[in-house]
Amino acid sequence: MVDVPLLELRGIEKLFPGVKALSEMSFAVQAGSVHVLCGENGAGKSTLCKIINGIYQPDRGEILINGKPVVLRDPLEARSHKIAMIFQELNFIPEFTVEQNLFLGNEPVNKFGKIDWAAMRRQTVALLEQEGLPYRPDTKLKDLSVSDIQMLEIIKAISYQANILIMDEPTSAISTKEVELLFRKIAQLKSQGVGIVYISHKMDEIFRIADEISVLRDGRLIDTRPASELDIETVIKLMVGRKMESVFPEKKPQAPGPVLLDVQKLSQGKTFRDVSFQLRQGEIVGFAGLMGAGRTEVVRALFGLDEISSGTISIKGQPVTIRNVQDSIEHGVAMLSEDRKRYGIIPVRDVKENMSLSSLERVMGRFGIDHREERKRDTEMSRRLNVKTPSLETLISSLSGGNQQKIVLAKWLLRTPDILLLDEPTRGIDVGAKFEIYKLITELASEGKAVLMISSEMEELIGVCDRIYVMSKGRISGELQRKDFSQENIMKLALIG
Ligand SMILES: Nc1ncnc2c1ncn2[C@@H]1O[C@H](COP(=O)(O)OP(=O)(O)OP(=O)(O)O)[C@@H](O)[C@H]1O
Ligand SMILES: [Mg+2]
Repeated sequence: MVDVPLLELRGIEKLFPGVKALSEMSFAVQAGSVHVLCGENGAGKSTLCKIINGIYQPDRGEILINGKPVVLRDPLEARSHKIAMIFQELNFIPEFTVEQNLFLGNEPVNKFGKIDWAAMRRQTVALLEQEGLPYRPDTKLKDLSVSDIQMLEIIKAISYQANILIMDEPTSAISTKEVELLFRKIAQLKSQGVGIVYISHKMDEIFRIADEISVLRDGRLIDTRPASELDIETVIKLMVGRKMESVFPEKKPQAPGPVLLDVQKLSQGKTFRDVSFQLRQGEIVGFAGLMGAGRTEVVRALFGLDEISSGTISIKGQPVTIRNVQDSIEHGVAMLSEDRKRYGIIPVRDVKENMSLSSLERVMGRFGIDHREERKRDTEMSRRLNVKTPSLETLISSLSGGNQQKIVLAKWLLRTPDILLLDEPTRGIDVGAKFEIYKLITELASEGKAVLMISSEMEELIGVCDRIYVMSKGRISGELQRKDFSQENIMKLALIG
């Protein structure tokens, strides 16, 4: 006898203006198991999850919980059916405290119907302690890092004690250590009979935790199989509909040019100290290290987002002072921030505007913006990155997470700066588009740009970089040349200190 699934979706269809996000989708989750959703950016994964969580209403089809049809009109109704979700996009109010965020919309009340702050504090402290998280309940979210906030979101969803837990790219911003924490948690939840829907673009991760895998393409279910019957190559093939020949573009050996960026003994209070390194024309240089090693902070300071306490920066042989972002842009520096929501996109503008934002001077004709040229350029770039959008006039906030990411990257690539600082450029990007991004970065370097790239995926750094600096505890703990590249060598240096 086959068990009745904990959750089942039958014949789900969902339309958005100009896109059929899902059609004839059928999907089921068994109690005590992890069902992973795979698919390229824009395939419909998040939409499916949001339907399960009551955020979107399907246009067609039905949802069954323990074999009984249900209607989920909103997330509260989903919660009453013991469904909880960890979102791909971190939506948080920066001014809120840790405890306010944890209990948002679910605040404990006293007998007068008022928020019971003392109870909230007690429960928060207990929860943080139980999960071994070192935050204070009254810390504001704006003072936490992206990874801290993501961890908090995970804990929050788990604290609802749901039977069905949806995790939409929960590990995109957390460290290896926290991933292990999460996976232990997942194992524990499974043993309690919780059914988990899990989305990730990280293949190794998927195969560690999946019981079943479903692959989506263009809003349709391609296949559902037990994970034991699949391997990475097959999943990629099902996702992109063709075989991927290689993961990294071929590198032509090329003698690096003159030094474009020279950083000497850069320090910033306690965050990083005596950071010295160089970037040469035509080079792709990696910054490896554990989360919290200070890589993002160094890059932010170089881009003028934060102040430095001492040290010197020279660009093309000239010492420069970078007081703000404008200064660094004028010196030919561009940066892709790890925190896209805060620094990357303008949600109320369309795709075209977001792409052009920082590079309009490049399409300026004699009579203002040359719209034909702008359109041509944007179309070409979105084609290369395989951006899935109904049009260039679509609001960027209605694109899937990975496609928004592609637009932000496109924006900086279109600027064609001399020095490109990329903080986690392929986070949330599907395998096919990752290859395109590596290719673009490699091309930019061979055109004489210098690229500095932070990544927590060692494989990616090894695949595309010419040199890798490793940071540990706010210092550069070593430098590796291509011939010495290995995950082992990087890890050794990352753990120094
Ligand atoms: N609120 C919305 N309004 C209009 N279109 C939308 C909306 N949400 C999603 N879409 C469209 O539906 C399709 C599926 O998007 P979805 O977010 O489900 O993709 P995804 O598989 O989660 O991709 P990713 O890996 O990039 O997160 C995309 O074409 C997207 O542009
Ligand atoms: Mg998504």
